[in-house]
Amino acid sequence: HAADAHRTDLMTITRFVLNEQSKYPESRGDFTILLNHIVLGCKFVCSSVNKAGLAKLIGLAGEINIQGEEQKKLDVLSNEVFIKALVSSGRTCILVSEEDEDAIIVEPSKRGRYCVVFDPLDGSSNIDCGVSIGTIFGIYMVKDDHEPTLADVLQPGKQMVAAGYCMYGSSCTLVLSTGKGVNGFTLDPSLGEFILTHPDIRIPKKGKIYSVNEGNAKNWDGPTAKYVENCKFPKDGSPSKSLRYIGSMVADVHRTLLYGGTFMYPADKKSPSGKLRVLYEVFPMSFLMENAGGQAFTGKQRALDLVPTKIHDRSPIFLGSYDDIEEIKALYAAEG
Ligand code: AHG
Ligand code: MN
Ligand code: MN
Ligand code: MN
Repeated sequence: HAADAHRTDLMTITRFVLNEQSKYPESRGDFTILLNHIVLGCKFVCSSVNKAGLAKLIGLAGEINIQGEEQKKLDVLSNEVFIKALVSSGRTCILVSEEDEDAIIVEPSKRGRYCVVFDPLDGSSNIDCGVSIGTIFGIYMVKDDHEPTLADVLQPGKQMVAAGYCMYGSSCTLVLSTGKGVNGFTLDPSLGEFILTHPDIRIPKKGKIYSVNEGNAKNWDGPTAKYVENCKFPKDGSPSKSLRYIGSMVADVHRTLLYGGTFMYPADKKSPSGKLRVLYEVFPMSFLMENAGGQAFTGKQRALDLVPTKIHDRSPIFLGSYDDIEEIKALYAAEG
């Protein structure tokens, strides 16, 4: 049967989101246009990543970003592409990028109601060896058309109206939530369209995998150390867990969503706030986790309740399967 070998009902991401938003006729056109511009940026970065070795896109750009990291050529290129795509959508008013020290206030003639926070290229250290990397984004919406200020983006993650990531891996996969579940779309390169391939992603309630940079173990706090010890030497007779750590948050979180388990970037003595940035790494991934039935915890509170005070704030993060994060919460509670 031909239909067994070919997908014939092509649910594109645009059609999907238009259907989903049909309850909000006043905003659906604007959201769809914004999303189309994000999707265009993802396709461009995907094609750049695929030919990085051929197009001399490997290696350093020569600048240090606000995070104190050496920028890769692909960090800079992806950042430019997303900024131009978002501004030209005419639907944004303020943008925050990992690669720019200051927020970008969109010029009045191109303004719309959405604020987009993003990590244009996540997993930079994996570019040059061909391992999966990604783009992460979160979207807020302002209520009226006041002059945009930082206060519009220094909002808790639970206020986001949508969040997602695109993974440039063995295939190019875009995972999106508009607050009602999580759906995954795979780029069909011959069509240039993202097609719904992973409808209603639910993270397994409990997982068999943990994911953390164990090289930092000597600086961990008690609960993190105890949790990882329990993964390796379970006290209740259950089998020990497997360790998987790619070092690209997008790829590690994608695997966690599909297979279950935990992903952690905890605090340590050298970096008491961890490494990952609240607005464009911790919040979007926490938003997706909760929408898929998992949890996201900072070691102190629900991650989506955090109120960032600066656009590049960092936070420790533990996210993943519901039961596994309960176990981590209990260890922190026991420490008092
Ligand atoms: P980015 O490449 O956007 O700067 O993010 C890197 C982050 C994230 O992708 C990953 O989870 C983490 O850095 C890995 O850090 P370590 O190398 O310290 O494990
Ligand atoms: Mn970086
Ligand atoms: Mn990142
Ligand atoms: Mn990045």
